[in-house]
Amino acid sequence: MTSTQAALEVEKLPDKALTDSIAILDFGSQYSQLIARRVRELRVYSELLPCSTSAAELKRLNPSGVILSGGPSSVYDRGAPTLDREIWKLGLPVLGVCYGMQLMANDLGGRVEPAEVREYGRATLTVVHHGELFYGMDPAIESWMSHGDSVTELPPGFAVTGRTMDTPVAAIADEERRFYGLQFHPEVVHTVGGQEILKNFVLNVCRATPSWTMDRFIDRALVDIRQRAGGKRVLLALSGGVDSSTLAFLLHKAIGEKLTCMFIDQGFMRKNEPEWLVETFESQFHIHVHYVKARDRFLEKLKGVTDPEEKRKKIGEEFIRVFEEESRRLGPFDYLAQGTLYPDVIESAATQIDPKTGERVAVKIKSHHNVGGLPPDLQFKLIEPFAKLFKDEVRKVAEELGVPEGIRVRHPFPGPGLAIRVLGEVTRERLKTLREADWIIREEIKAHKLYRQVWQIFGVLLPTKSVGVMGDQRTYQNQIVIRAVTSEDGMTADWARLPYDLLETISRRIVNEVPGVNRVLYDVTSKPPATIEWE
Ligand code: XMP
Repeated sequence: MTSTQAALEVEKLPDKALTDSIAILDFGSQYSQLIARRVRELRVYSELLPCSTSAAELKRLNPSGVILSGGPSSVYDRGAPTLDREIWKLGLPVLGVCYGMQLMANDLGGRVEPAEVREYGRATLTVVHHGELFYGMDPAIESWMSHGDSVTELPPGFAVTGRTMDTPVAAIADEERRFYGLQFHPEVVHTVGGQEILKNFVLNVCRATPSWTMDRFIDRALVDIRQRAGGKRVLLALSGGVDSSTLAFLLHKAIGEKLTCMFIDQGFMRKNEPEWLVETFESQFHIHVHYVKARDRFLEKLKGVTDPEEKRKKIGEEFIRVFEEESRRLGPFDYLAQGTLYPDVIESAATQIDPKTGERVAVKIKSHHNVGGLPPDLQFKLIEPFAKLFKDEVRKVAEELGVPEGIRVRHPFPGPGLAIRVLGEVTRERLKTLREADWIIREEIKAHKLYRQVWQIFGVLLPTKSVGVMGDQRTYQNQIVIRAVTSEDGMTADWARLPYDLLETISRRIVNEVPGVNRVLYDVTSKPPATIEWE
């Protein structure tokens, strides 16, 4: 079973009566998820389904329309993914993107061949017939192309609606059957007006009602959670990140005291954060948090460890051990709640489906460590209310639920925390040095009102020392690297072009205020080839 099939098994598209939806059949493009996100931005629920989804299954799911994603194959390759041809007879509007368009042309009686000129990157699309899809748009559209094949013969009933310099058939339509094909990618930001095209398809062609809102999602989730877990005990491991914090709010609203929140303090959080987190939940929101002080245990495990992989592994293993002990002590619990998001469901197979009940069962706990098997006698059924949400949707849910801004808009923070930013051996003293420097970095980026503009900004303590001079004294001390990146999703990133005066202030303050540091550096590497974190 592929992971998208697993996703399909978990929950079906919601009732049409409740929410109109668009089904996106995934032919393997790197942009498939992006199409789903773009459709959701139009406030229409969308779901990524495997391209092998049958017409019968699709009919049962009852979407308002179908989008066929792009993909790396050629339709004439042996073993290239195909579509259940009955889908063409369902009477549903279909938009084929790139490979999706070629498949449409091929299946319906046209012809696809290797293009004379392969087209990659930007190209101007000339709209020759606006129809429903390009309704209200400029006749020249800056579009993003990425294809080696082209449609050379149209299927019966189709007309060319757009062309580029190199691709005479760059957009096609059969308005009567409401079938549309685009050789370019409307979902990527480089296609100017791409969202307008998707809007025309989803709202005008498919006539989907834009009813997917986060307040509705919350109402529905509360009912679902109460139905499944009302009266039962649910455990949640709080990390302080936006997903688990928002989940705590939602579950507390649904089942109140039946929820147990546990926060394991490994000792690798930023300055004041564990205290702030527990205090905020307890006194402001009256959500009790079991605070587990495990700092010494983790430091003990890291003694003498310098290899990044070993460090992560040791922390992950210790996390699971503490989790296990504490959940036995506080338990038993019927359910484990996790802040799993839709991309996790699509991309990972860290969970299994119980063949008897069809419920997801945790075989690994999805802590932010991505490791750690649970012993066989400690298995939980899962509650994952966000398993169909993207990150930006969770942020909206957080806003609706009144999760404080300090949690909602915070930068991502890795599970192993500062331990993977103290390069080399992690000691209490070196953690303190980094914590103080990190505090200054955050204070200054906020004071310059640039916190929200960057994806992440943090300090890294190097394992080397360098010579400096302070007053008349020669020094031989630590170095801190400032790492700041911009990114859409953390998969790729660019180093942030921070103003020099900000860098200057951070550098001056760190050297003056953090004992034992005499040099500050700025990381100017993008991802790839570097990663965002240093370990
Ligand atoms: P890299 O360093 O791989 O990081 O470019 C990409 C994003 O993931 C975060 N990150 C982690 N998050 N557990 C987490 O929950 C981890 O072990 C972990 N390692 C990296 C990183 O901060 C960045 O946002």
